[in-house]
Order: sequence, then C-alpha cells, then structure tokens
Amino acid sequence: MMLLLKQPQTFLLAALTLVMVGCGEPLPGKPLLSERAIPLSEQMEFGELYRINCTGCHGADGKGGPAPSLNDPLFLSIFSDKQLLEIVHNGRPGTLMPAFSREEGGLLSEAQIQSLAAGIRATWAKAEGVPDNPPPYLASSPGDPAAGQAKFELYCARCHGKDGQGGTEGAVNNPAFLELISDQALRRIIITGRDDLGMPNYLGLVEKSSQKQPPTSQDISDIVALMGTWRTAPARRLANQEKQEAPAPKATPTAPAATQPTGTTP
Ligand code: HEC
Ligand code: HEC
Repeated sequence: MMLLLKQPQTFLLAALTLVMVGCGEPLPGKPLLSERAIPLSEQMEFGELYRINCTGCHGADGKGGPAPSLNDPLFLSIFSDKQLLEIVHNGRPGTLMPAFSREEGGLLSEAQIQSLAAGIRATWAKAEGVPDNPPPYLASSPGDPAAGQAKFELYCARCHGKDGQGGTEGAVNNPAFLELISDQALRRIIITGRDDLGMPNYLGLVEKSSQKQPPTSQDISDIVALMGTWRTAPARRLANQEKQEAPAPKATPTAPAATQPTGTTP
C-alpha cells in the first residue's frame, strides 16, 4: 500500500485495470442486467403488478383475501372498466382500499393502472355461468332500514341469524366489521356472494325448493340500509341518514363510501 501511495501512476494503472475487469465479467454473485428485477416503476406485467400491489388484500389469484374478490365473473359483469380504472386510481375514501395513482399519492403510472384493469378483466371475467340481468352494482335509490328487517330475515337469517348475530355462519352485525366496510361493498357482497368463502350469490339466497324470489335491487338497498344502522356510533348513523335523505346523490362508485369518513371513530 505504501508503495502505491508513493507512486501514483502505479495506483492509477491498478485502478484502471480493476475498472476494465469490471466492464467485462460481472463480479461473482452480481446478477446480469437481464436477470435483475424490473423496478416497480417500470413493471408493466399484470401478474407482477397484481402480486405486488393487490394480493395482500384481495388474495393471490384474486380471491380468498380479506377484501372482496376480484376473481369473480359475476362481479366483473356488473362493474365497468371505467369503474375499475377509477377505483384503482382513487381508491375508495373511508375504506381500506388505497389510491394507487401518483396524483393521489400512490406509486403507479396511468399505463400501469390500465395494465392492471385490463389484466383483471382478461384473466378473471367470463361470460359462462354469469346470471342474466343481475341487480346493478350501484343502488338507484336509497334503502329503507325498517323495510330491510323483514328482507334480512327472508334472505340472510337462515345463515347469519335474525339480527345478523350469527347462525350457521358468522355474525355480520359486528360494528368493528361494519366500520371497515362500505355500503357499496355490502351491496356487492349481497349480489355476488363470496364464492371464495362459501356465501352464495343473490340467486342462491333463497333455497331452490322455496317459491321465493331472489332479492331485487331495492331489497338489497333496504338490507344495506338496515346493516348501516348496526354500525352503532350514533353520529355515524345520523350522517348516513342525512346522506340518504339528501336529494338524489350522484351515483358514483365512490359515493357510498363518502358517508363513512375515516378518523371519526369515537
Ligand atoms: C390495503 C388493502 C387493499 C389493497 C392493497 C387493495 N385493495 Fe382493493 N379493496 C380493498 C377493500 C377493503 C375494498 C372494499 C372497500 C369497501 O368497503 O368498499 C376494496 C375494493 C376494491 C374494488 C371494488 C370491489 C367491490 O366489490 O366494490 C376493486 C375493483 C379493487 N379493490 C381493486 C384493487 C386492485 C386492482 C388493487 C391493487 C392495485 C387493490 N384493490 C389493492 C382493499 C385493498
Ligand atoms: C346460505 C348461507 C348464507 C346466506 C343465506 C347468506 N350468507 Fe352471508 N355468508 C355466508 C358465508 C358462508 C359467509 C363466509 C363465512 C362467514 O363470514 O361466516 C358469509 C359472509 C358474509 C359477509 C362477510 C363477507 C366478508 O367479506 O367477510 C357478509 C357481509 C354477509 N355474508 C352478508 C350477508 C347478507 C346481507 C345476506 C342476506 C342478503 C347473507 N349474507 C346471506 C353464507 C350466507
């Protein structure tokens, strides 16, 4: 070392040699350029984008996670491409569904969001087995919680108990659970069921042997309104009622969640 310091030319030569060696062969253990993981900002492939950003909540392969499944042809038949792009872009305020666009503080580019939306549809939407004319994703009129009680008993009680306290299946009246889920997601679960958890879709809510009709769009709104009253917090309940009484709220997929601002849990 002393020698190198005393003879700068020798040092330079040695350093240069090292640099040149570095250019030719990769150092042992160093991945080739082609083997390196693509940085998230450049990732365009649907499977990878989904795995990195969505699997934790929506489940590997789009189902079985805590959040509603995306690998659900009935859901995708009532949820438009526009709605899909919008929710990934903006998230659903007041719920755990985050915004992914850079504009909204997320990490994904427009092109990546489009790749995700296109991939979800290409991979999981199917025409076969999807019922004709299912109830629409968006409610067209507010629900009536009083009317909802009888409808809950008709369509839900045999599995979840008369007041949602649980029966052969789990409770659905738990305030902590209801605080975390929007009216929109409740509506969607009643329409599509949760195939991944064993809950039937709207057609399966009545036993085949019975002569009862499956729930209509309005029945579903009424049941959701009833479940809204189980969120307990009186302030929250009031806010929900005010929203429902307000004249014709704009029907956007994010509107129902706006009735549940975060951070107001008493
Ligand atoms: C931190 C958890 C979390 C992550 C990560 C997440 N989601 Fe969600 N997502 C949710 C929850 C919870 C809901 C339901 C929100 C509600 O109550 O309305 C939801 C709702 C949705 C919906 C609407 C479903 C419906 O039934 O209305 C879509 C579509 C969706 N997410 C797509 C995605 C995609 C695509 C990604 C990845 C880019 C993603 N989500 C990542 C938690 C998450
Ligand atoms: C045939 C039985 C059955 C009927 C009828 C039924 N469910 Fe379910 N439901 C299930 C099963 C099974 C699950 C998943 C396991 C659990 O959470 O108990 C479930 C789960 C749920 C969940 C939780 C979903 C989640 O994301 O964790 C909600 C909310 C729900 N049901 C609401 C309803 C409502 C409202 C009705 C009536 C309109 C209804 N269910 C009717 C069987 C049923």
